Amino acid sequence: MEIKFQDQHPERIKTGLVAIPVKEKQMDAPVIRRLDRLLHGGLAEQIRKSRFTGAEASALVYGTAGRIPAANLALIGLGKAEEVTADSWRKAGARARKEASALGAEEMAFFFSPDREPELSAGSIVEGVLLASYQFDKYRSEPKPPAALRSLILFRSGLRRGEGMARAVKLALDIFPGVSLARDLVNEPPSIATARYLGEQAERHCRGRGLSVEVWNKKKIAAMNLAGLLAVNRGSTEEPRFIVIRYRPATRAKKKIALIGKGITFDSGGLSLKPAKSMETMKLDMAGGAAIIGAMSRLPELRLPVEVTGYIPTTDNLPSGSAQKPGDIIRYLNGKTIEVLNTDAEGRLILADGLALAARAKPDYMINLATLTGACMVALGTEVAGVFSNHQPLADALIRSGRESGEKLWQLPLVKEYRDEIKSSVADMKNIGGSYGGAITAALILQEFVDSVPWAHLDIAGPAFAEKEMLTSPKGGTGFGVRTLLRFLSTL
Ligand code: BES
Ligand code: MN
Ligand code: ZN
Repeated sequence: MEIKFQDQHPERIKTGLVAIPVKEKQMDAPVIRRLDRLLHGGLAEQIRKSRFTGAEASALVYGTAGRIPAANLALIGLGKAEEVTADSWRKAGARARKEASALGAEEMAFFFSPDREPELSAGSIVEGVLLASYQFDKYRSEPKPPAALRSLILFRSGLRRGEGMARAVKLALDIFPGVSLARDLVNEPPSIATARYLGEQAERHCRGRGLSVEVWNKKKIAAMNLAGLLAVNRGSTEEPRFIVIRYRPATRAKKKIALIGKGITFDSGGLSLKPAKSMETMKLDMAGGAAIIGAMSRLPELRLPVEVTGYIPTTDNLPSGSAQKPGDIIRYLNGKTIEVLNTDAEGRLILADGLALAARAKPDYMINLATLTGACMVALGTEVAGVFSNHQPLADALIRSGRESGEKLWQLPLVKEYRDEIKSSVADMKNIGGSYGGAITAALILQEFVDSVPWAHLDIAGPAFAEKEMLTSPKGGTGFGVRTLLRFLSTL
């Protein structure tokens, strides 16, 4: 998709669809009045009839019947004036994109009218348009024809393509393919998207200047002492993989970052089997790993001056005669031991390997992404990821990057008093806590493996997968985390 900037008026621009963002209950805005005059009062009448108020992400489409050069107008609701943020612009972009598809428009012009933060808003509009374009229909016999949007014009009278504006738009364009890749990986059925498949996809997509990929097989995993991954994999007939993706910038690296992603390609719970309903979406359990593959794949394009290593332990979690059993004990490469009392608490078992290995390289920051706990979903719902961190500046920076990306992160505490909950009678710790605070006890277990490196853990169990269609994502994988990670990395 090509992005253009134009110095133009809504009543003069010639295109298939003009999107006009409007704040809630401001139907007397000058731009609407001007257009309405040219449309002989038809627009105002339509607004009245449809009771369009400009509520967030609502739309009113109006065919102009040749009275102005644009064939169609779409008023796009921004929501309450005092609540307009970058995300309102993202949603407006997404809503406009949906209207363009419905009309089959190949070109859309978007009236660019933010009151503040023009650069962030421009990037957000473009991002919304891109996110709403995503489809996963390779398994449909009759895929809906892709309504390609060839170009998006941001316009306003007096608008010029500034340096900062161009940069913000380029960032959105550079990041999006990473989100799309993460979504594809999550949406792929679990018997296709095995550990081996994830390794192959990492090799396929993480190429280009500065990037290299290693995919370790079971033998190498055993040689590296990645005991948690082997334990979780024991019930499976599929081999595990441990994926290491490295990015080295051409210039001297300002910072060294480790990203660790949970890559459970299907979580049945293992011998501590999940009920059928809870298993329906469990192909999503590699969303953390997918987000890291997606993010890493964009680093050559972004040319960030940071060294980044992605670590993705990946396997499915299945029951069988050879599966790990409640009561088994895992000894990790840093010497620590975990008693496994519930085989469904498997994410922490494989992340522990990744964290312990990553910590050895003494990075400046370690960030892990994981669909870790149902408890985090109970606490924060499906729109918000939990953040846990031993380093407040890192947590703050991630939350800010999330806000600018339209990904909501909320910090939860590492309550040291709750460490009592994970005490084991035979090992250093057990893999589950008590009945309450399950997201926190899971995070406390991970913390045992970070060796005081500044670290953040993002529990993305809620937002990684959309149970129903959203404006910016169809039902399925959302690619949550890719935007936050890349934006964060681009601030270093
Ligand atoms: N993959 C799940 C967490 C999850 C649940 C992700 C729902 C997305 C949606 C994880 O491995 C798990 O099963 N966690 C258990 C932990 C419990 C056994 C301590 C949970 O949350 O119930
Ligand atoms: Mn589980
Ligand atoms: Zn899981």
